[in-house]
Amino acid sequence: MRRWQGDGIYFGGDYNPEQWPERTWSEDVELMRRAGVNLVSVGIFSWALLEPTPGRFEFDWLDRVLDLLHGGGIQVDLATATASPPPWLARAHPETLPRRADGAILWPGGRQAYCPSSPVFRERSLDLVRAVAGRYAEHPAVVMWHVSNELGCHNVHCYCDVSAEAFRDWLRERYGDLDRLNDAWGTAFWSQRYGDWAEINPPRTAPTFANPTQQLDFLRFSSDEQRAQLRAERKLLKTLVSQPVTTNFMIGTGIKHMDYYSWAGDVDLVSNDHYLTAADPQAHLGLALSADHTRGVAGGDPWLLMEHSTSAVNWQPRNVAKLPGQLRRNSLAHVARGADGVLFFQWRAARAGAEKFHSALVPHAGADTKVFREVCQLGADLKALAEVRGSRVDADVAILFDWEAWWGVELDSHPSVDVRYADRLTALYGALWRAGVTADIVHPSADLTGYRLVLAPTLYLVRDADADALRRFVEAGGTAAVTYFSGIVDSDDHIRLGGYPGAFRELLGIHTEEFFPLREGEQVRLDDGSTADVWTEWLHTDGAEVLASYTDGPLPGVPALTRHPVGAGTAWYVGTRLDEPATDRLVARLLDEAGVAPAAQAPTGVEVVRRRDGERTWLFVINHTEAEVRLSATGTDLLTGARCAGVLTVPAGEVAVIREDPATDSA
Ligand code: GAL
Ligand code: ZN
Repeated sequence: MRRWQGDGIYFGGDYNPEQWPERTWSEDVELMRRAGVNLVSVGIFSWALLEPTPGRFEFDWLDRVLDLLHGGGIQVDLATATASPPPWLARAHPETLPRRADGAILWPGGRQAYCPSSPVFRERSLDLVRAVAGRYAEHPAVVMWHVSNELGCHNVHCYCDVSAEAFRDWLRERYGDLDRLNDAWGTAFWSQRYGDWAEINPPRTAPTFANPTQQLDFLRFSSDEQRAQLRAERKLLKTLVSQPVTTNFMIGTGIKHMDYYSWAGDVDLVSNDHYLTAADPQAHLGLALSADHTRGVAGGDPWLLMEHSTSAVNWQPRNVAKLPGQLRRNSLAHVARGADGVLFFQWRAARAGAEKFHSALVPHAGADTKVFREVCQLGADLKALAEVRGSRVDADVAILFDWEAWWGVELDSHPSVDVRYADRLTALYGALWRAGVTADIVHPSADLTGYRLVLAPTLYLVRDADADALRRFVEAGGTAAVTYFSGIVDSDDHIRLGGYPGAFRELLGIHTEEFFPLREGEQVRLDDGSTADVWTEWLHTDGAEVLASYTDGPLPGVPALTRHPVGAGTAWYVGTRLDEPATDRLVARLLDEAGVAPAAQAPTGVEVVRRRDGERTWLFVINHTEAEVRLSATGTDLLTGARCAGVLTVPAGEVAVIREDPATDSA
C-alpha cells in the first residue's frame, strides 16, 4: 500500500477549536509547539458549524484555524466533517434517523444519529465533502484527509424500512435469485421459505431465534453499508484533493461489526483508534494485540495510531487514570508494532459535553501537570525515533482472524455461550506476548509463506480455499495449531458434515462425534497436569498422536490435545479451553517445534519487538514491571543516546529503543 509519506513520526491529536473562544487558539498553537506536536485532526464534528442551515456554508472560522496552525508549523489531517449530522437534517428528514431491531428510533442529541443506508444522508454528506474539499484542497497545512469518524461506531445496524430495502438490494446482488437465497438461508426450516423479495426484512426482533444466515448476511450487509460511505467520500475526494485519505478504524477485541480487511483497500493509509480497558491490569496485552492486528489489516505496512488517550477515558464504568510512565509505554508500544504516528483524543480537555471528563494532551488543570509534562517528553521521544519511520515489524508467527468467523461463532443457539471469539485469540496471543514473540494477525486468505507457526483460534466459519491454504502451509513444513469449535461451518453457516472440525478434520487427523460443553464453572483435568474448562468433545484420532487426555469430567480417557504430522509439517489440535499455564506450555512447545525465537530473551513482563528496514533493525524494549531488568543487546538507545554493548539495563517502567549494531560474523 504505502501511499503516504510522513516526515518523522506524527504526533498530535484531535483538535476541536470550535469548542473554545478564539483567544485560546493562539495558546493552543504555542503549547503544541512546546510539546512537539506536528499533526492535528480538525473538523471531525464540525458539520453543524460549517453548514448552520441547509446549503449555507460558513468557513471563516476554519480558515482562521488552519492559517493559524500553518503559521505555527502544525500540519492538519482535515476531516470531511460528516461524522455527525446537524439537528436540522433530522427535522427536515426524519426518515434519516436509524432504528433499532425493535423499531425504536435513535434520536439526535448524541452523535452519529443517521441511517447508514439513507440516500438523503449520503447526498447531504457528499455536498459537505465537496464544499470542504473544494475550499481546502490546496491549503498548505493540510497533509491528510479524515473521512467521517469511526464509521459504524454507534449506528452500524439499522433496521428501518430504508435499510430493509437496501438489504434486499444487497441480497439480490449476492444471490441473484430467491432459490439460492432460500437454499443458503436454509428456509426449509420453520416455514421460513420466501416467495418474494419484498417478504424479506432485516432480522428485526422476532418471537424467537431469527434465521442465523439471515443474521450473518445482515452483519455482512451492515459492514458493507458503512464501507460504502467511506468509498463514496473517498471517490469524491479523489476528484478534488491530492493528499492521502484515511478514516479511523476501531481494531480491537471490543468493536466487532466492521470487516476491516475488506475496507483496507479503500484508504491510502490504515489508521486506528485504541483505548485501554483500564480496569484490566494486563491491558497492555490488548493494546499490543490491537496494534499487531492493525498492522495485519495494513498488509504489514506502517500505520497511524489516530486516537488513544493520555490518561483516563469517560465512557468506561470506572475510568482509571494512567500512572506516571504509562502514557509513554503505551504510545511507544504502538510505535514498536508498526505505528508511524501517535495521535490522541483530544488536544484540550473539554469544558462541556459528554466527554468533559476524558483526558487530553492539555488537561483542565493546564500545562503545569504530570500529563502535559509527559506529553512533552513523548514529543521529544518521537522526534528521536524519526529514523524508524517506514520500517516494518519482524514476525514469524501468524494468527488467523476473520470478522465473519467472529460474527458466526457468536450467533445465538450454539452449544455454549462461553465460546467467545476473542477468548482463545487473546489466550494464545498472551502466551506469545509473554514469550517475547511477535505475531502478525491476518485474514485466513493472507499469504502464509514466510511464517513458521500459524495459529487458528476459534475459526468457526472458514472457506474451503482458506482451509486448503492452511493445509498447504503445513505440508510445506509449517506448524499449525487449531483450537476447538473451528472449521465447523461454511460461508452460509451450514454445518460441514461427517464429524467436527469439518474443514480441518483431515489436516488434524482427528474427528469429533459430539460436543460436551461444560457447566458454568466446571473444570476438567488432563493427564499432563493441565486444567481446562468451558469445552470438551468426544474426539477420535485418525492418525494424530495424542498429547494429553482427560482424566475426569464427562469424557475420561478421551484425547484433548493432539499432534498430526502432515507432509513436512505438523498440525496440532486443542480440544478444550486450557488454563493460562497450560496455554503457555503449549505455545512454548509450538514455538520450539516451529523453531521460532523471541525478539530478545527478556524477563517476564518485558515487551520486546523488532522493527526492520533491510539490514537496519531497532529493538524496542518496554519494561512493564516494577523492577529494573537486564537483557542482551548491542547498539545505541535512541531515547537516551546511551550505548549498550552486550547488556542493556532498563529501569522499572522505562522504555529503550536500540538501534542495533549490524551483526558481525564472529563464528
Ligand atoms: C472515539 C471517538 C472520539 C472520542 C473518543 C473518546 O470513539 O472517535 O471522537 O469520542 O472515542 O474516547
Ligand atoms: Zn436505516
